[in-house]
Amino acid sequence: MAAGAVPDGPRPWWQEAVFYQVYPRSFADSDGDGVGDLAGIRSHLADLAWLGVDAVWISPFFRSPMADFGYDVSDYCDVDPLFGDLAEFDHLVDDAHALGLRVVIDWVPNHTSDQHPWFLDASSSRDSPRRDWYVWRDPTPDGSPPNNWVAAFDRTAPAWTFHEATGQWYLHMFESAQPDLDWDQPAVEAAMHDTLRFWLDRGVDGFRADVVHGIGKDPALPDDPPEMAGVPHCALNDHPATHRRLRAIRSLLDGYPGERMMVGEVFLLSTEAVATYYGHDDELHLAFNFPPLFAPWLADQWRRCIEDTFAALDPRGAWPTWVLSNHDNPRHRTRYDRAAARAGEDAATAAVRSEARARAAAVLLLTLRGTPFVYQGEELGLAEADVPDGRRVDPGGRDGCRAPVPWDASPDHGWPVRAGADTWLPMAPEADLRNRVTEAGDPRSVLHLYRRAIAVRRASPALVRGSFSLQDAPDGVLAFRRGHRGDTVDVLVNFTGTMVDLDDPTVVGAEVLLASDDPALTDGFDGLLGPDQAVVVRRRRGTCATGAGRRPVPDVLQP
Ligand code: NOJ
Repeated sequence: MAAGAVPDGPRPWWQEAVFYQVYPRSFADSDGDGVGDLAGIRSHLADLAWLGVDAVWISPFFRSPMADFGYDVSDYCDVDPLFGDLAEFDHLVDDAHALGLRVVIDWVPNHTSDQHPWFLDASSSRDSPRRDWYVWRDPTPDGSPPNNWVAAFDRTAPAWTFHEATGQWYLHMFESAQPDLDWDQPAVEAAMHDTLRFWLDRGVDGFRADVVHGIGKDPALPDDPPEMAGVPHCALNDHPATHRRLRAIRSLLDGYPGERMMVGEVFLLSTEAVATYYGHDDELHLAFNFPPLFAPWLADQWRRCIEDTFAALDPRGAWPTWVLSNHDNPRHRTRYDRAAARAGEDAATAAVRSEARARAAAVLLLTLRGTPFVYQGEELGLAEADVPDGRRVDPGGRDGCRAPVPWDASPDHGWPVRAGADTWLPMAPEADLRNRVTEAGDPRSVLHLYRRAIAVRRASPALVRGSFSLQDAPDGVLAFRRGHRGDTVDVLVNFTGTMVDLDDPTVVGAEVLLASDDPALTDGFDGLLGPDQAVVVRRRRGTCATGAGRRPVPDVLQP
């Protein structure tokens, strides 16, 4: 079988699904405290079903002191009262399943909160039976931390905090309020497996595993290389012990009926390294693919991301993922605008191109070979919120992408807060126009584009499961072809701000399935790609590529 082709036959649901990430604090609020909650999510599940997504990934809603807004867990097996309770979660899962939506929840295995009973116990005394559940080191002669590892968020901060009461350092790859668990201890592994079972027994369909490559660390804790100074250790930690732990987790998941899955956040700098965390179909089912999340709006860079992704994953039979935005990074629309501004684009041009770029990116996300993840609000075309100093709350400076999702055009945009309360962050920008109700009423909206793109994808075997081959294209244009048993679909994305004439006999005249800017464009494709326009076309039977004058397609990507 040629590389890039996909075996026929039944496929696991998570390979064909479109995932939708809910960041619960900012999705929808049911009780007027200004912080989203599970009942709020539940009340909008029908909207997600209408959009057409298949699975909802919910970021942490567990008990937490909220030093990292839920990624500091103080009880893995309970819902923080801010978000509701276990009964509400059970109702949410039931409702989601009734609507045909799978539910995937976050799981934070690398670290707990410093308020977790395990850490309170471990830090109570050097003799605590749970002392070795965390990573402790004795003081050094000169008082410096045990090694040069740097914590995330503040590139000057060591990944260690000295615990005065017991006279040792403890390790934390993130905030000091997030001590790292020591997975070398079998009791830790067993306890964390129990937390998985707890939620599997409640019916979740899978997990998104937070910094999961952190669960194996070199026990010698060697310094990071000096040339990596300032790079947080979480981006460098890549130790073989993690793989056998992932295999054990995979067996646990496979022991449950219903194709329970795990998508891992493996935040390493190289895609080859990330690919190893799929194992040989015996570790992670999926791993996030982050280079596209950082890629600017440039055809060459996307082409390279795509080639690198398939080159790293295909030889292992590993299934790719695609993501444009999430709760940790500036929204992609704003990222593209900022990168263009750095390259000299003026404000007037940006005003014209901003939404067009985001629309074309959506088409790209939903047509590449692999599983797409949509981050809440991108389906409304939201840009990054400009959060004033007085309202910033996140230690990692990520407030702008976490602004509440506007639901309607009313003054509170569907977030009526109790007297004296306010939304935990200011509302996302342009909320009068970019809100669910207004966009649902406008067939030309970004919301309808996402809905159409998901529907086109679902209806096309080529897009869901077909082979992938990059095609020759003019500078600034990315073209790829997807094919499955006679269904041949071409995706053409113009990354430039000017019209491009493709003059390509294999696509001119083809049926337009989707255009990023125009819901009415369904006639034969005329070969002209508008500025920042993406078009998906299906070749009519009887038309075929001549191959004349085309650059050879790299072997690895041939269908
Ligand atoms: C990655 C999560 O996505 C991020 O939000 C969090 O701060 C860190 N892991 C630490 O848990």
